[in-house]
Amino acid sequence: MGKPIGIFDSGLGGLTVARAVHAALPAENLVYLGDTARVPYGTRSAQTVIKYAIGCAERLLSFDIKLLVVACNTASGVALEALQERLDIPVVGVINPGARAGVAATRNRRIGVLATAGTVASGAYERAIRVENAAVQVFAQAAPLFVPLAEEGWTTGEVPRLAAQRYLQPLVEADIDTIVLGCTHYPLLFETIHDVAVELLGHDVAIVDSADATARALSALIDTGPAEDRGPGELRVLVTDLPGQFGASASRFLGKPVEGLDIRAIDL
Ligand code: DGL
Repeated sequence: MGKPIGIFDSGLGGLTVARAVHAALPAENLVYLGDTARVPYGTRSAQTVIKYAIGCAERLLSFDIKLLVVACNTASGVALEALQERLDIPVVGVINPGARAGVAATRNRRIGVLATAGTVASGAYERAIRVENAAVQVFAQAAPLFVPLAEEGWTTGEVPRLAAQRYLQPLVEADIDTIVLGCTHYPLLFETIHDVAVELLGHDVAIVDSADATARALSALIDTGPAEDRGPGELRVLVTDLPGQFGASASRFLGKPVEGLDIRAIDL
């Protein structure tokens, strides 16, 4: 059996990244760790998120992972360097691929980023986009209510539309033509965010999902060596708490039922 790719997130939202990685690299084994006991990371200080991220990464190392994906945007924003310095394996975050895809998509060089308060405060998307193209202007907007809405499965209808109108207004005033979804949870609200943005802007908008962008970056990076080094493409899920809502919530992010998945509760 091939060495797995480790993926961690503050909770179950990063299953959107696991899903995109599995779609791009179906033969790779994945070990996903969701720190469900300590979610959310998006409202915590950088020091705390760094400490939690190191704990998650160290646990995944015990599964002999060949590469680590930091699926959480907040952890990618504040802890990527600390993890890269500490680990001997490649560590990939979601922010650089999302930033690159945003720069490729914009025509008027004005990008809106929707993310958690922690990611916005880190300035990580601004830095990553500046590296790609210093002429691009970035307008970052915290959209904290999207996290519980996605967890509840309230992804369309009046409530998420109202939240989207509020969060998108400053980006519309900034005349962006591209929105980067800089949070694990936001791809579930893709349709609402897109429709409300188009209504408010009066023209189409490009929406970049950092989960997909990361999966594409990973396919370019991963060792495509002998087939026996990979497979059979299984997904193991570790969580630090197994709440009652686990099945419903996890299947929303994963896009399929979780029955039959290897799910284990662990302590960190
Ligand atoms: N996983 C987080 C992120 O992508 C969202 C949820 C949280 O705040 O922990 O930023």
